[in-house]
Amino acid sequence: MPHGIGGAARASLAAVGVVVLAGLIVAGTRFAGPAPAAMPDPNKGAALSVACAGCHGSNGLSVDTNIPNLAGQHYAYLIRQMHAFRQGTRKNATMNHKMATLSEEQMRHIAAYYANVPFQAGRSGRGRR
Ligand code: HEC
Repeated sequence: MPHGIGGAARASLAAVGVVVLAGLIVAGTRFAGPAPAAMPDPNKGAALSVACAGCHGSNGLSVDTNIPNLAGQHYAYLIRQMHAFRQGTRKNATMNHKMATLSEEQMRHIAAYYANVPFQAGRSGRGRR
């Protein structure tokens, strides 16, 4: 067996090894990422909603006609509005500021809380007439 071929085979084997190793490193980094977000928890949301109660009411029934009720609102809608305030695509100085301070996980807990407050249509909060 001529020397040259063996050398080339070894070289290409080494190259394959490097590629495999690189692949493992990439895969490893992917798995080492942050843990998946916790499930939305209405109880955690209730605790967090204390920061919203001054305007949106202690149970999501707002204290003023200029402030929307959040009780019984759809989870997906609440998340969408909170994202819009955070991104600034929906403009309201107070809410833009408030949402900038909340993590994604906190928003999910809060949305789960308000979406689960029993709310009967037609039976309005103090803010409604
Ligand atoms: C200082 C008063 C104030 C506080 C505190 C406040 N909000 Fe608001 N929020 C408002 C007002 C006013 C609006 C309506 C903004 C508009 O006209 O677009 C609003 C709108 C919203 C909306 C959109 C509702 C809809 O029907 O579209 C959501 C969701 C919301 N707030 C969540 C929260 C959460 C969650 C907190 C607490 C972390 C909070 N807000 C704290 C005043 C407040």
